Amino acid sequence: MNNIGNDGNKRRNDNKHPMTLAVVFARAFLLLLLLSAPSYGQVRELNIIYTGSLQGQLEPCGCSPKTDFGGVARISGYLTEHERSLSPYILLDAGNFSDKDTAQGRLKIKAMLKSFSLMRYNALALMGRESSFDRDFLCSLQGKYNVPVVSGFKDAEHSLTLRQDSLNINVSAHPEGIKAEMLNILLTELPLDEARLIKGWDLIITSSGEELEEPVRTDGTVLVSGYPKGKKLGILTVKTNGQRMVDFTHRWVSIGKELEEDERARDVLNDYDKEVARLIAEAEKPETGTTYAGVAKCSGCHQPFEESWKKTAHAKAVATLESAGKSADPECLICHTVGYGEEGGFFSIETTPELKNVQCEACHGLDMEHLTDFSRPMQPVTERVCLKCHTESNSPDFDYPLYLEKIKHW
Ligand code: HEC
Ligand code: HEC
Ligand code: HEC
Ligand code: HEC
Repeated sequence: MNNIGNDGNKRRNDNKHPMTLAVVFARAFLLLLLLSAPSYGQVRELNIIYTGSLQGQLEPCGCSPKTDFGGVARISGYLTEHERSLSPYILLDAGNFSDKDTAQGRLKIKAMLKSFSLMRYNALALMGRESSFDRDFLCSLQGKYNVPVVSGFKDAEHSLTLRQDSLNINVSAHPEGIKAEMLNILLTELPLDEARLIKGWDLIITSSGEELEEPVRTDGTVLVSGYPKGKKLGILTVKTNGQRMVDFTHRWVSIGKELEEDERARDVLNDYDKEVARLIAEAEKPETGTTYAGVAKCSGCHQPFEESWKKTAHAKAVATLESAGKSADPECLICHTVGYGEEGGFFSIETTPELKNVQCEACHGLDMEHLTDFSRPMQPVTERVCLKCHTESNSPDFDYPLYLEKIKHW
């Protein structure tokens, strides 16, 4: 490793020599040659398509059109549709594509790897998020899904070489892994501030999760950052001299709803939804006795309020999940039902149908004593109560007075 690192240093020092006129002419000549001789037998232009920091987002929740971006089926659809105009290209992921090592997190990372494999990623990096998974489990996946991996972990394979026509591309997850006579690409999770200081690479792609609208170029190294949660796909079109990068342009493709999904990737996502549903179905509902009363009980004394509530979006929140195929996904139920994850709250449509949707107690709180002593006031409903669910990413248009007006039942 060290030798290779030193080699990188040497190259960097060479660059510091003042340019002589001869060098300037030689470079100009080379450039001319590059421009005028496309059949030189070497790759002239290559698209490096990249993601990083997908954070386990297989697809966006669709809670708001303003945040409805990302999703592997859309990315795959885009690549399939534009395969020809994008070619030749390599497809890289800089890591942090998974969520956490939970039962659902494992289903997610599997679906993610299946999707990467479908899209024929040329390399993906294992970074911090991936390192939180059980190592044996992770290894078992690597064998199963056919995706070349470079690893940011200690004592693992850090690099691989891709060939694109006559161009050799070194993809590495090790900051000192530069190789001679290759196009060198570093996949890292270092924050931009630190990644900026690494020298000698042609390209550094980070999965730090920071948004970087335009690539940063320092000393011949181009630095980009995978757009968080895959809401945009990065495309770097590089010109090479057959070895190193000499020029580039960059653009983002917004992964919006208008992109047609790849059906095969959609199947992967649908399978994932089914497996998530199985997790809930197999889980034992804890014996707690009922704690949430449910709208039917409130309605016993507050019937007009129920009538009014029924007309709001809150009363159809689970139907919304049903039409998205997500009515058994804990990550959605948490905001689309009452008391999910709490003792005596919503558990599943089968076991607690009476607690479907965003019911009275999601706002008024849990107070069984009110049912017998209704002079007991319920908790005051403030904006804070709404913000539990109406977050910046799920409800970017949330405006308290305006939204309050829409649910008025008092
Ligand atoms: C943090 C809370 C939260 C989570 C988690 C959440 N939602 Fe939502 N969802 C909301 C809120 C709040 C709205 C209403 C947004 C608005 O109109 O301002 C909403 C709206 C929606 C809508 C649009 C409904 C319509 O009629 O326009 C869909 C679809 C949806 N959610 C699906 C999902 C799915 C699928 C998941 C899980 C992957 C999910 N939500 C997870 C809070 C959440
Ligand atoms: C047995 C009848 C009964 C049931 C069941 C009942 N309430 Fe009430 N509730 C009342 C009465 C009567 C009042 C009016 C009390 C007053 O004005 O002093 C009231 C008042 C309220 C108020 C406004 C007063 C305040 O200070 O908070 C809210 C909110 C409320 N109930 C919510 C609920 C919810 C939510 C449920 C279901 C979990 C529920 N109630 C179930 C009878 C009932
Ligand atoms: C337990 C989570 C939760 C809480 C708490 C909550 N909401 Fe919602 N809200 C949702 C969800 C989920 C939706 C989307 C339902 C759907 O369309 O499927 C929604 C939708 C809405 C909508 C409809 C938006 C539209 O334009 O169609 C309004 C208005 C709204 N909420 C207002 C409020 C207000 C005001 C509060 C607080 C007083 C509040 N909500 C508290 C989860 C919540
Ligand atoms: C999205 C949040 C939300 C949901 C869901 C909701 N409420 Fe309310 N409710 C409020 C707010 C906000 C107020 C007015 C502020 C206050 O009085 O605390 C209110 C007021 C009330 C009042 C007091 C009326 C008065 O005259 O003071 C009653 C009673 C009530 N709601 C009953 C219900 C019942 C019954 C349900 C279910 C069918 C329900 N609410 C669902 C937010 C909600």
